[in-house]
Amino acid sequence: MNAKLIRIALASVTAATVAFAEGEAKAPAAVPGTIRMITEATFPPYEFRQGTEVVGIDVEICKAIAKELGKELKIEDVEFDSVIPSLIAGKAELAAAGITVTEDRKMKVDFSHPYVRTGIVFIYAKANPFEKGEEAKGKRVGVQNGTTSADFVREQLGQEPEMFDSPASAFAAMKAGKVDVVIADIDPAKAVIKGEPDYDISELLTVEEYAVAIKKGQPELLAVVNKVIDELDGSGRLDEIKDEWTAKAEAAASAEEVKAAAAPCGCVPCTSADCNKAACGCAK
Ligand code: ARG
Repeated sequence: MNAKLIRIALASVTAATVAFAEGEAKAPAAVPGTIRMITEATFPPYEFRQGTEVVGIDVEICKAIAKELGKELKIEDVEFDSVIPSLIAGKAELAAAGITVTEDRKMKVDFSHPYVRTGIVFIYAKANPFEKGEEAKGKRVGVQNGTTSADFVREQLGQEPEMFDSPASAFAAMKAGKVDVVIADIDPAKAVIKGEPDYDISELLTVEEYAVAIKKGQPELLAVVNKVIDELDGSGRLDEIKDEWTAKAEAAASAEEVKAAAAPCGCVPCTSADCNKAACGCAK
């Protein structure tokens, strides 16, 4: 089974668990001595896979939180739109997935102090540039499921986005001519166009901040999370972590390119387990 299929299988297990947890008001507890982080690992440099391991800026932040608590970090990787529901259902103690603080989400979870100031951008073909939001009105706009990019398309453009399970698969769909333009957070967008001379990104369309989310009503845990983030920020360590993982994500992307070139897609309708799904432009 390839990594994506495993992830899809994981996501359905998660959905079932969420339904169970809501029905029974009972959630699986963390193994003693561990703390669980939930994320969606197609978002370099914040979280991405190196082999089977999930790595990135958010992982480093959560490792520092786990260390402060004297616990070992366990990571769960689910679809992005399951991250907050799974946190609420008690599947994890920390959610860190480049999660933008929004008013809507603040009603559901508590957020730490922000650790990144960022925003979303268009990813476009240089032959078909997009700079201002309105230019995408009436166009097919690809986004990752459940993200602020999807909100932007609905709220600012007044239309439904085309949904994908990662920024990279939305981009692959644009290359395959299935969408006109993609919207994603600027850092993963930069990672996606690396080594793609025919594509570019726009200026920021929004200003957003990322924070760690926890289930509401845990002031002690929130205080620890904030203390760790403040210390990482104040000591300059946060900037080091960002630089280090931005460089590592770039190196990983170049390695991926080499692999993709060696094994071009060629599988239609893109269901074979060994097919390179990103290169095929598969939506799901
Ligand atoms: N910042 C955006 C949001 O909160 C996108 C985050 C996507 N994160 C991810 N790990 N895929 O909606």
